[in-house]
Amino acid sequence: MDLNTPDILGIGIIGGGGIAQAVHIPGYQKLKNARVLAVSDPFESARTACEEKFGIEKTYADFEEMLANPDIHAVSVTTPNFLHAEASIKALEAGKHVLCEKPLAMNAVEGQQMVDAAQRTGNKLMCGYHYRFNPEVQTLKKFAEAGEFGEMYFARTIAMRRRGIPGWGMFISKEKNGGGPLIDIGVHMLDATMHVMGFPKPTKVFGKTYQKFGKRKDVTGLMGQWDTENFTVEDFAAAQILFENGASLHLESSFVAEQAEQDKMSFQIFDDRGGLSYNPLQMYKEHLGTQLDITPMGLPQNVQAHHKEIESFVNSVLNDTPVMTPGTEALEISKIIDAIYKSSETGSEVTL
Ligand SMILES: NC(=O)c1ccc[n+]([C@@H]2O[C@H](COP(=O)([O-])OP(=O)(O)OC[C@H]3O[C@@H](n4cnc5c(N)ncnc54)[C@H](O)[C@@H]3O)[C@@H](O)[C@H]2O)c1
Repeated sequence: MDLNTPDILGIGIIGGGGIAQAVHIPGYQKLKNARVLAVSDPFESARTACEEKFGIEKTYADFEEMLANPDIHAVSVTTPNFLHAEASIKALEAGKHVLCEKPLAMNAVEGQQMVDAAQRTGNKLMCGYHYRFNPEVQTLKKFAEAGEFGEMYFARTIAMRRRGIPGWGMFISKEKNGGGPLIDIGVHMLDATMHVMGFPKPTKVFGKTYQKFGKRKDVTGLMGQWDTENFTVEDFAAAQILFENGASLHLESSFVAEQAEQDKMSFQIFDDRGGLSYNPLQMYKEHLGTQLDITPMGLPQNVQAHHKEIESFVNSVLNDTPVMTPGTEALEISKIIDAIYKSSETGSEVTL
């Protein structure tokens, strides 16, 4: 394979852990126009796993050494959150395009530095909000863009697990993850909802976070058992977000919530001609004095949204077209998350 051919993208992976092995490496390896050349991870076990499971030929303990390889044109940043900014900025400055896992960064200050680095270097910065590649979300977006809905004035967004505090990684550490369910799973549904709404500009945020279960030893985990001593994030968050166009959005996100479902990722949007929901996928309208429930049928099945995201990133780089989940929009999500945490701390509304 001739890597100088401009239509084959050389890929490096920064962080060879869970999501890299589950999604990024296999996602690139499915593509004819990309090739994973190297993985960097300070842990030998992660490097060996990538070599053995995926036949990765070159691994590095230090990602900066990997970035010196001129055959690598683009990287996936799949480290814990606290390294997203440093790794992405160094990669952008080394001339690489970046697909960074969500959230964009620990906070909006770091996120802004990443966006600035992308603008300064002219390299692409995409964030891994993969729900935008889910066929159901894409159907709602297609109908929204075609003007099938009215003025969207209220949304209800839910990212709630019943017993889903991760028992691995750094997801329970404020210092390493930036927060709990809000910054981990809430961001996904918030991004998807705002994407369908046309990404309105947020102006005011009021939020409240709670830590009711994470420090308790008597709570059973269904995603592994976490270290209660080192649980320093919220386990529940709720927020109200107001947008410049007058619309508002209510967000709820939790790792531990007493509810029927083990995992509920959904949103509803109300517009002045009807409404829609994701999970379950449904549209609602009134026509000829009759109320209609519209259920889209025949959508593509078994679509791996993560893989679609990776394919889209590769194609955007090779064709020099805008990325589908740009760093600039991911930065808006980070600003909202920061504002929710700040509002909860101060007890006041935060103006963006
Ligand atoms: N899009 C999704 O649905 C989704 C799902 C899971 C995780 N994620 C995101 O992916 C990221 C990683 O999560 P994970 O579950 O894979 O965590 P993980 O802990 O399994 O993997 C992270 C890897 O990064 C490595 N690492 C640490 N420091 C490094 C450095 N300096 N250079 C290179 N590698 C380094 C770790 O050794 C580890 O192997 C997080 O930001 C998380 O939010 C996204």
